[in-house]
Amino acid sequence: MQINSVRLNNFRNYGQAKIDFAGGLNFIVGKNAQGKTNLLESIYISSIGKSPRTRKDKQIIKFGESKAKIDLDFSTLAGKKNLQIYLDNLNKKSIKINGLNVLKLTELVGTLSVVYFSPDELKLIKEVPEDRRTFLDISISQFDKNYLYNLLKYDKILRQRNTILKSAESYASKVEQLKLFTPQLIDTAEKIILKRIEFVKNLNPIAKEIHKAITLDENLEIEYSYKPKDKPIKEDLTEQFEKIINKEIELGYTCLGPHRDDLEFKINGLDCKNFASQGQQRTVALVIKLSLMEVVKNEIGEYPILLLDDVLSELDLPRQNRLLEFTTKYQTLITCTNLPETSLPYNEIKIENGSVL
Ligand SMILES: Nc1ncnc2c1ncn2[C@@H]1O[C@H](COP(=O)(O)OP(=O)(O)OP(=O)(O)O)[C@@H](O)[C@H]1O
Ligand SMILES: [Mg+2]
Repeated sequence: MQINSVRLNNFRNYGQAKIDFAGGLNFIVGKNAQGKTNLLESIYISSIGKSPRTRKDKQIIKFGESKAKIDLDFSTLAGKKNLQIYLDNLNKKSIKINGLNVLKLTELVGTLSVVYFSPDELKLIKEVPEDRRTFLDISISQFDKNYLYNLLKYDKILRQRNTILKSAESYASKVEQLKLFTPQLIDTAEKIILKRIEFVKNLNPIAKEIHKAITLDENLEIEYSYKPKDKPIKEDLTEQFEKIINKEIELGYTCLGPHRDDLEFKINGLDCKNFASQGQQRTVALVIKLSLMEVVKNEIGEYPILLLDDVLSELDLPRQNRLLEFTTKYQTLITCTNLPETSLPYNEIKIENGSVL
């Protein structure tokens, strides 16, 4: 996939701007606070309908204005496409693909595939399990709509099940109602877990190889917390739920299932979260995103677009160079305050105060 141009209208610090991109490596260069991250944000929103930075669309609209628009032209193997996102200060969003209205966000997901990395993505390694589940869910949803529908279904059943667990009803009544909801939950849980296991299985060897190429001597391993047993997942979860029913009723929420699962990253056998250096953690987070590019390509038949915010300043020169070599295979948009030294071909986009120079 390749983005050809983005037109922004009252988006963050942009008034009216048109930004053209080339294939391969694009450096988005400018001083601090000029609009480099804002530009990547507009592309990310076009991909999944949400900002990586805020849930409030109002914050995205240029100060003093009431509406914003992103208008993006891109090419895929299936031909040229256009995406338009309209935002207003009442938090109402409308989306058009090739001029046709999109009624649900789920329809948008997968249209424009991007993989995004910013320094904030270190949370993938350092922060809470929820951040790692979000990574799994957004990644898999980009190429598997059924997975996304199962997530939404699971979330609905989970909320219903929690309402029962939390209610003031009698123990017997709760047990009776759970007989209906627990099998439904397990049914969807199994589909989600199986997909996540498959995704990690595909990601693992690619990540190992890319990580070795960038670090030269480290061995990366990714593990999903649910470990397959010698019985089907459904059977295993049913047994586990039976064992914890009293605990769940006492606590008032669902204690088991993919909404509690996690990912673990290990370098040379040591857990990254607790033992890796800052630079090692950063490298792992980046390697995961580079590997995701390959996994998505294997799934959809073409590379997504790689968006890298502020990544170069954080890496030493040899790692920078080895990283840049990877990114020439696909369209990559990298923000930086200074052009890096590289012998690779690139396109430069200069940004100053919400305008392209
Ligand atoms: N809704 C908005 N309206 C107008 N300006 C905004 C809005 N939201 C953010 N800004 C401004 O956009 C400017 C540029 O932000 P951006 O994060 O894109 O900078 P940057 O070029 O990535 O800088 P850095 O190199 O420091 O990361 C900031 O100064 C911010 O105040
Ligand atoms: Mg920035």
